[in-house]
Amino acid sequence: MKQYKSTPIKSSEITPPALFFDRRRFMQLTVGASLSGLLPSSVFAGEQLANVKKTTEALSDKLTAYKDITTYNNFYEFGTNKEDPAQNAGSLKTRPWTITVEGEVNKAKVFDIEELLKLAPLEERVYRLRCVEAWSMVIPWVGYSLAELLKRVEPTSKAKYVEFVSLEDHEQMPGQKSATLDWPYREGLRIDEAMHPLTILAVGLYGEVMPKQNGAPIRLVVPWKYGYKSAKSIVKIRLVEEQPVTSWMKAGPSEYGFYSNVNPAVDHPRWTQAKERRIGEFLKRPTLPFNGYADQVAQLYSGMDLIKNF
Ligand code: MTE
Repeated sequence: MKQYKSTPIKSSEITPPALFFDRRRFMQLTVGASLSGLLPSSVFAGEQLANVKKTTEALSDKLTAYKDITTYNNFYEFGTNKEDPAQNAGSLKTRPWTITVEGEVNKAKVFDIEELLKLAPLEERVYRLRCVEAWSMVIPWVGYSLAELLKRVEPTSKAKYVEFVSLEDHEQMPGQKSATLDWPYREGLRIDEAMHPLTILAVGLYGEVMPKQNGAPIRLVVPWKYGYKSAKSIVKIRLVEEQPVTSWMKAGPSEYGFYSNVNPAVDHPRWTQAKERRIGEFLKRPTLPFNGYADQVAQLYSGMDLIKNF
């Protein structure tokens, strides 16, 4: 990944302090105001998702501003600068869209996006996202556990890993004209990581349909792993017996391992993993083991050497 340059947030981008401490109220106000034409539509650009079960405040962290979540992205299919995806992802066509689920399963199936949107109740999941480049965000995703999809295809006993493949289309995704990564983008999880209830398929954020730059129409989110494990704009999910080779492992095998669990004790050669800058904040904060989800996921790795299996 390209070197991260610290970009000071302009004062015009900072939420007024009176509203800052009450994001939900701010959301209601801004959604209401933008609907009535008082705010530019760029504040909230998307279509609201219906029937989203609201979260019961699972995290005390403040939510990152919608604007930051949607204008500071890594999505190399649309360019390698943080602002490129917001500027270039307009060319992505999110309908029609299907995800093919195949491999070591009894019931391989092609799921249409409309079916995926209704596959399980949509829930808001507020998760920390920790990028390997040492910045982080707190994002109210909308989605459901990936396990909901996987159990429908009945994995066989040979399904040890799950591979995720993003769209490859050089016309819709102009960044694919450069060989920055070996396209299509691929990620992978062990089957127990994929079945873990914290692992979600996300179809939106802040109650809205997923913005294109964040991986529309459907993406993976694995909150205890570095952000790059969360593949965007997924078109294929393969259940396999052998550990898949991911795009980042291919690009830099000494820098990006298969597991990529957030680990403050193991530095990346180019970025410390001990601390992180929360986007919208100035002081760095310590990075937590498993990104703060150790209670829920550490047992998946008991007995494993997490320095060797980075
Ligand atoms: N998925 C695809 N298809 N292409 C990418 O370049 N970048 C990854 C991940 N998923 C990436 C991707 C990286 S490096 C990060 S940090 C997260 O997406 C960023 O997600 P966000 O833009 O929604 O914060």
